[in-house]
Amino acid sequence: MSKINFLDLGSQPMANNYLKSQKPDDEYFYNLNAVFDDEKKLVSLSEFVPPEMMFNETYAYRASMSLTMQDANKKFSKKIKSKFNPKKILEIGSNDGAFLKNFKNSTVIGVEPCKNLAKITNSMNILTHDKFWNTLLSKTILNESGQFDLIYSANTISHIHDLDDTFNAVDKVLDNNGIFVLEDPSLLEIIKNVSYDQFYDEHAYVFSVSAINNLLKLTNLEIFDVEKTTTHGGSNRIFIKKKSNNMGILDSVKLTLSEEEKFGINNFETYQKFSEKVKYSKKKLLDIFDKIKKNNNQIIGYGATAKSSTVLNYCGINTDFIDYFIDTTESKQGKFTPGTHIPIIKPDEKIGSHINFAYLGAWNFKKEIFNKEKDYLSRGGKFITHVPFPQII
Ligand code: TMP
Repeated sequence: MSKINFLDLGSQPMANNYLKSQKPDDEYFYNLNAVFDDEKKLVSLSEFVPPEMMFNETYAYRASMSLTMQDANKKFSKKIKSKFNPKKILEIGSNDGAFLKNFKNSTVIGVEPCKNLAKITNSMNILTHDKFWNTLLSKTILNESGQFDLIYSANTISHIHDLDDTFNAVDKVLDNNGIFVLEDPSLLEIIKNVSYDQFYDEHAYVFSVSAINNLLKLTNLEIFDVEKTTTHGGSNRIFIKKKSNNMGILDSVKLTLSEEEKFGINNFETYQKFSEKVKYSKKKLLDIFDKIKKNNNQIIGYGATAKSSTVLNYCGINTDFIDYFIDTTESKQGKFTPGTHIPIIKPDEKIGSHINFAYLGAWNFKKEIFNKEKDYLSRGGKFITHVPFPQII
């Protein structure tokens, strides 16, 4: 097996590790490099951070935090109900119940290793196993609850290091006629948007549909449909069934695989070119920040996302450039951004009238944020973004 390094994003902290102190003495750093496995056509990090360090009782990310995500979950749940009418649903990575709470009339079970989040869903009467997803847990669930006709997992499978074990565990608890829906950021969109900020400790893998298709070849599972969603700047929703289930395979699978192939997702040269674009993106973003600071303007950050942690640390954007971040997530407020130690505060109703520049950390919620900040924009307030290329909007 040959894994080739193509992207070096330098020394990075854990992206969701918001700090209680601005001067921590024990912050963990690792080298963030991405590699391409030429055999499976799979992109991953070269070094994995131990899962217990990332997913524990202090985990900050809340899936219910934005209207965009709430709407997306509601809409997809409705679609699932009318298309598949599942009676028993298992979610791997159930976070704060953003998806499962839409299925009040079904049997729903969550799996969530972050104990603070599992506590939330358990208190909502959603039985949640506060454990990591693996074959061992799937056996326990099988014994206690039997098989499921829908297994859903959004932004989680790409976090799990042992993919063979993950798919085997799914196979165990999936009913023979059941479906497994896997949703993760699309490698194709990431490359097109030069959104290198999708590379961080939690994203051990960044999936193309082609890579998932290759990984499933050695399992009892196969893809039967693919949808593109706008979540997290562009994701693939991949519908998987057991090979023994003779439900037809839809054209979307062939079409997506051929779109990826044509784009060059299976060729190492594509990743070399991407890496060059990332270096250029850093240079251009720093030019923008330098120019604004030279004119003595203040810059704030908007949305202290895990993604933005990669950008800030890779580009060396710290408190010299950004005074503070505003973020609606309570557990991030009063803390400091990992590695770059920028204060995070609770937003007031609107961005203050003395602010003219805001770096859009949550660029994936641009539409929602621009809607909320109409006044800021109409008085000439600007956003800085690096996606799809560094610019002031
Ligand atoms: P995510 O991109 O990892 O989902 O994180 C989005 C973060 O952005 C989350 O902490 C909430 C924050 N946010 C705001 O602060 N204001 C907003 O209007 C939106 C939509 C998100």
